[in-house]
Amino acid sequence: MGVDVILGLQWGDEGKGKIVDFLANQYDIVCRFQGGPNAGHTIKLGENKYVLHTVPSGVFRAGIINVIGNGVVLDPITFVKELANLDTANVEYKNRLLIAKKAHFILPTHRYLDAASEAAKGSSKIGSTLKGIGPTYMDKTGRNGLRVGDIFSPHFFDKYKQLKEKHLGLLKLYPEIEFNLDREEALWFESIGQIKSLQFIDSEYYLNEALNNGKRLLAEGAQGSMLDVDFGTYPFVTSSNTTVSGVCNGLGISPQKIDKVIGIAKAYCTRVGSGPFPSELDNEVGEQLRQKGFEFGATTGRPRRCGWLDIPQLRYSVMVNGVTDLIITKMDVLDGFEKVEMVTSYKDINGAMTDKIPFDIVDRKIETVTTAFKGWQDELSKVQSYAEFPEVAKDYLAEISQRTGTRVSMVSTGPEREKLFKILS
Ligand code: GDP
Ligand code: IMO
Ligand code: MG
Repeated sequence: MGVDVILGLQWGDEGKGKIVDFLANQYDIVCRFQGGPNAGHTIKLGENKYVLHTVPSGVFRAGIINVIGNGVVLDPITFVKELANLDTANVEYKNRLLIAKKAHFILPTHRYLDAASEAAKGSSKIGSTLKGIGPTYMDKTGRNGLRVGDIFSPHFFDKYKQLKEKHLGLLKLYPEIEFNLDREEALWFESIGQIKSLQFIDSEYYLNEALNNGKRLLAEGAQGSMLDVDFGTYPFVTSSNTTVSGVCNGLGISPQKIDKVIGIAKAYCTRVGSGPFPSELDNEVGEQLRQKGFEFGATTGRPRRCGWLDIPQLRYSVMVNGVTDLIITKMDVLDGFEKVEMVTSYKDINGAMTDKIPFDIVDRKIETVTTAFKGWQDELSKVQSYAEFPEVAKDYLAEISQRTGTRVSMVSTGPEREKLFKILS
């Protein structure tokens, strides 16, 4: 038995948290492999809503081990706040939350540098979550980073200081960025003191031994494929590989160990932050999707941009990730529309149809071709099985499957755990 992967196929916020939480009890270990507190994964249990940023979404399933992999960047301050929320919710995690020593720390000064970089970009800013993600990964690849396992080194403080001084030097170039480092630094070290009682592991050994012992692993992606640093709408992307290759780098496992690649896509599209979005509806219909889907960022609260499902974009993500199964979420949000549309192709510079994402997607507005489908007036959030779905909704899902060449194995109709149905083909 190997590793199954769950990842977002659009621009993030596809509902990964809900799906990981639902499927987690079929696995022994759930692992986050990239990203950091830029992620916001929402899980609704009864009346309670939880948003996880760094903790894997298997944490609400008793007995399941949760691993924060080496590919993750961790901010002790936000992490401790997240753990406090779990304490308040009486979720026991201390013996089953493991952190890779090779994960990198986000320093307070990384966050200031993130703000400085965005301010310097002016109107072409990326719309970063300002959690320090970009500068932390830059220090990692620049070989200057501070790793979680360094907290056990007698030289930890010196290493921290060296990196901080480097950052303060850079920040002198941005005098307009205001910060209170003394206060944040004190909180940062206090937070590290608090997490020291958790377990720190050599995750590559731990996970490979688990696999050799027949354990089942679920790798949980953050962000979405179109935010991948290599394959997304660069430079309007995040700073990690959100696509399937990130699983190997971010956990230390071989591609041969990967079984299912489960891609999550909403029944429509959203994007938060700047950058190209070919199927965007900057009109009343987009506003309707935003209100019905409650499309406001789980991490920043920003309104998400909304648009129809984009088939060329989805086909691209399916290709890059080798998706074996699709799960379509938020199908209920399309209830009540007289017609539901999909972008089915783009027009290239010469007006010819294409279903390929052009290299210069950032530099020009993509003209799209849409196909309309009959909508449904039923309330999908009330159905109890896939058999009860209206035929037109089934047709819409069949269309996605046919156009992506991938089976849709489940469909979600609400934020709650029980609103997820298997589609038997
Ligand atoms: P993630 O980052 O991919 O985990 O997704 P987010 O948590 O940022 O955003 C997804 C939002 O949609 C959350 O508020 C979920 O509770 C909610 N959600 C998930 N699945 C469904 C669904 O099928 N229908 C509806 N209406 N909401 C859903
Ligand atoms: P989850 O895991 C949606 C977006 C930001 C910005 C760009 C770069 O909840 O799906 P960063 O802070 O990473 O430097 O921001 O990426 N972004 C997300 N959008 N969901 C996320 O995570 C995101 N994480 C980053 O809005 O446009
Ligand atoms: Mg999210």
